[in-house]
Amino acid sequence: MVTVTKNFEILQPDDWHVHFREGDMLHMVTNYSSRINNRCIAMPNTIEPITNTIKAKSYKKKIEQASKYNFNPLIPCYLTENLDSNDFRLGLQNGIFFGAKLYPTNATTNSKKGITDLSKIYNLFEILEEENSPLLIHGEKVSENIDIFDREQTFIDEELKKIRNTFQNLKIVLEHVSTAYGVNYIKENKNIAGTITPHHMLLTKKDVFFDDKINPHHYCMPVVKNETDLIELRNAASQNNNKFFLGTDSAPHHTRDKTYDLSSKPGIFSAPCSIELYAEIFEQENALDKLETFASINGPIFYGLPINSSKIKLQKKEWIVPEISRYKDIEVKNFYANKKINWKVAN
Ligand code: DOR
Ligand code: ZN
Repeated sequence: MVTVTKNFEILQPDDWHVHFREGDMLHMVTNYSSRINNRCIAMPNTIEPITNTIKAKSYKKKIEQASKYNFNPLIPCYLTENLDSNDFRLGLQNGIFFGAKLYPTNATTNSKKGITDLSKIYNLFEILEEENSPLLIHGEKVSENIDIFDREQTFIDEELKKIRNTFQNLKIVLEHVSTAYGVNYIKENKNIAGTITPHHMLLTKKDVFFDDKINPHHYCMPVVKNETDLIELRNAASQNNNKFFLGTDSAPHHTRDKTYDLSSKPGIFSAPCSIELYAEIFEQENALDKLETFASINGPIFYGLPINSSKIKLQKKEWIVPEISRYKDIEVKNFYANKKINWKVAN
């Protein structure tokens, strides 16, 4: 096993799962995410979700204009049960949409307009398959009688298996996979990959749920699970399996929207330290030499995109993650606030 203990370079990464939001928040997020990545998938669950090509073009332009770099946001279409399928197909054909994102209704932030009955959008899956465009899935089944910790497994068993069997050539990404069950499902099935966040490899439910309150800064969807799940996720990311790649699910919420109970908005903001956290995790797994594959190679290969040619340098250098990110009136608590990280990207 190779142990890297000093500075090293990797091909420039991409982040295949980021929430940019809108307005000043979008400026702040863009600043962080474009400092490292060449491309990001900009999730379409804005307050007014990105359900047509006009909205997608405007969202993309706003992010591009907010960036100081030559940065490429890719915008999936937010699937609804009453989407204009002609506009959808044209958007895919013309590169305005980068695939589509499926949010089950009420599974997470701004998912009210998502999908309640998956059978109603099988025509859209067919279009995606025909256009060789990926389906990105928030894989949780939500209902009163499904425990919050069982949502991912139930979605896989009751929904994903049906989609997989019906559209065998459709490329699927199970976003922010959070369970050992999900990891194994991805490994065992064709045309499906998964993104893995830093927080699902660093936290377990004991870091979120306490007797009568929660830590809202560790609260996200899907919720973090058990130690056994965390270990399986770390292995999947760091053991050179080409079905897993980097997607931070960096999802900022203003500090005023973070309350210490389940009414808090779910989402963890890791953009200020994301690649450094992945480096930290890979070092703990004695797999720093595999970071580049996970961060910069597996994603573009799965999506059929070119691998970046520029590089970034990671320096072995201790620093403390600041508590808060601020921009104008925006104030967001950072993931890993006030904690030490051993790696830092060189400017
Ligand atoms: O925790 C989450 N927050 N999970 C998601 O899927 C969405 C995100 C958000 O947009 O806040
Ligand atoms: Zn997300």
